[in-house]
Amino acid sequence: MADRNIRKRTIRSFVRRAGRMTTSQQRALDDLWPAFGIDYDESLLDFRALFDRRADVVLEIGFGNGETLVEQAAAAPETDFIGIEVHEPGVGHCMLRAQEAGISNLRLIMHDAIEVLRHQVPVGSLTRLNLYFPDPWPKKRHHKRRIVQPGFLDLIADRLKPGGKLNVATDWANYAEHIDEILAQSDRFTCVERREHDGNQPLDRPQTKFERRGLRKGHRIFDWSFLRLPADDL
Ligand SMILES: C[S@@+](CC[C@H](N)C(=O)[O-])C[C@H]1O[C@@H](n2cnc3c(N)ncnc32)[C@H](O)[C@@H]1O
Repeated sequence: MADRNIRKRTIRSFVRRAGRMTTSQQRALDDLWPAFGIDYDESLLDFRALFDRRADVVLEIGFGNGETLVEQAAAAPETDFIGIEVHEPGVGHCMLRAQEAGISNLRLIMHDAIEVLRHQVPVGSLTRLNLYFPDPWPKKRHHKRRIVQPGFLDLIADRLKPGGKLNVATDWANYAEHIDEILAQSDRFTCVERREHDGNQPLDRPQTKFERRGLRKGHRIFDWSFLRLPADDL
């Protein structure tokens, strides 16, 4: 009991869903992890050594089944991509797609993105960060679990290069208001583009699984691109 009282509680942006793992997803986790996976630990990653070249690095938080991530990586072989996701079947699915696509510019981390950013991603190392359809946590008492918070913006602003981009999308109008408010308060980012649409004008990204799910419910889609300030002290 005493232990429970002193243990620091962390508010996380996800709950680990048990989820069904197909045989092929499990096989991907067993066989393809050495090719695509990066184990979580608290030491800084060296992207140059990891990809064996110097290239722009794009990071996606919460890639779900990874189809959008693999499509983007396949379309930009000159860029390196890192995806972070806690949902194991999604990671397995993503590796299967990556193998089918025959790409070598993608690595995955299966851990809480906040801890990965804090401990493994070097300061000023990312060209772009994508956050597509983050868990909306629609109930008011759960709003504190939303990943977009002032502290999160400071963390990712430090990991992005000056002039780097933060691209966000959601299909929840109330989360869109929250994102508008939190970003407007930040002096680390400025909005360069904002779109509201019916799934027909995604901003520099393929459609995602959760976007299609939102559209089926009749939701509108919100897309933003923010510039990390200052833009020019590279
Ligand atoms: C609503 S889904 C969206 C998935 C995908 N981006 C899409 O649009 O289809 C949000 C995903 O973010 C993941 N997620 C939430 N918080 C996370 C965190 N802190 N670290 C890693 N993944 C996280 C969840 O596991 C979930 O798969």
